[in-house]
Amino acid sequence: MDEFVTEYGRIINTDSLTYMRSSVADESIDLIFTSPPFALLRKKDYGNVAEDEYVDWFEAFAREFYRILKPSGSLVIDIGGSWIPGQPTRSLYHFELLIMLCRKLEFHLAQEFYWWNPSKLPTPAEWVNVRRIRVKDAVNSLFWLAKTPWPKAGNRRVLTPYSDSMLDLIENGYQAKRRPSGHDISDKFQRNNGGAIPPNLLAIPNTESNSHYLRYCKEQGIKPHPARFPARLPEYFVRMLTDEGDLVFDPFGGSCVTGEVCESLKRCWICCETVPEYVAGAKGRFAPSANSSSGAEPGYYKIYSSSALWNEATEDSLPADGGRTRPVPKQNGSAAPLPTTAPKDKKAKHKSDKIIQRSLFD
Ligand SMILES: C[S@@+](CC[C@H](N)C(=O)[O-])C[C@H]1O[C@@H](n2cnc3c(N)ncnc32)[C@H](O)[C@@H]1O
Repeated sequence: MDEFVTEYGRIINTDSLTYMRSSVADESIDLIFTSPPFALLRKKDYGNVAEDEYVDWFEAFAREFYRILKPSGSLVIDIGGSWIPGQPTRSLYHFELLIMLCRKLEFHLAQEFYWWNPSKLPTPAEWVNVRRIRVKDAVNSLFWLAKTPWPKAGNRRVLTPYSDSMLDLIENGYQAKRRPSGHDISDKFQRNNGGAIPPNLLAIPNTESNSHYLRYCKEQGIKPHPARFPARLPEYFVRMLTDEGDLVFDPFGGSCVTGEVCESLKRCWICCETVPEYVAGAKGRFAPSANSSSGAEPGYYKIYSSSALWNEATEDSLPADGGRTRPVPKQNGSAAPLPTTAPKDKKAKHKSDKIIQRSLFD
């Protein structure tokens, strides 16, 4: 069994199911953070389980996860959705997985998160770009599960900066009153707690193009892992759910992003990965000159209100057959161009600030 050992952890070239059964003690792990192979239609090199076999395949791993997790520990699974072959409808496999984990194995769902990848390309092209009958699928689910309703956790570790409107409110006050929603807004909202409590929507681009890992793979002639998640994703949960010295396990380690994050945060870690080439590439993450930065990122993303273009768009009639027939390109090119930017008026900005402010209370 080939393995690579660092100060805080190890990546082992092995099947994680066998490894857990043979080498991981009961209730010894603080956090299992992982992104298993998804039930994708377009298969990756490392292989993907078909969506109708997925839940059964996963159950054997999940039973071991339950056994090795501490009662205070957490299991966080990053999982993308999938489509039914040949038709524009979604598979239910990840919902079925969640139901199995909670109903059959008795995990508790502490919370579900959504990872929005702002750089995700529009897919599947046939439904999204060609027939224009679905929108871009740019969000993965993350299921945060635990053996009890009380896994250790703290949201103070993952605060975000206050919005301008919230800073204004902290400085200038708010008249305490009952909201139309029935919530009683007290003057406690005026307290500066060092940052805003984030929502369960994580905006993290997956655009690594110039990292130490990629340069290392190139130098060594190794094919980089084709489905890496950005370091900020495990980092969020490692910070929120573990303390220094805790033990983190990633059973589907891939290029060992989880290990790299844990190493930099002084958490002990174990990653398992079956493909030797990915393990060889992962070593590059721990070279002395490596750092775990995922590159420059904007501090925030702007999400337009879904109504931002409604007054400017033309209303072509909808395909009566639901898009069953492929559209024929128009002779003179494509359909009438739609405006590509939202109106730049100050009122709109002011309105969106208000919406943010209101959403803090409703
Ligand atoms: C979605 S990828 C994980 C990518 C990883 N999070 C990263 O950022 O590099 C899933 C990985 O699980 C590995 N894998 C699949 N079955 C496995 C098993 N039984 N034991 C260990 N690794 C496995 C695959 O080879 C693949 O590299």
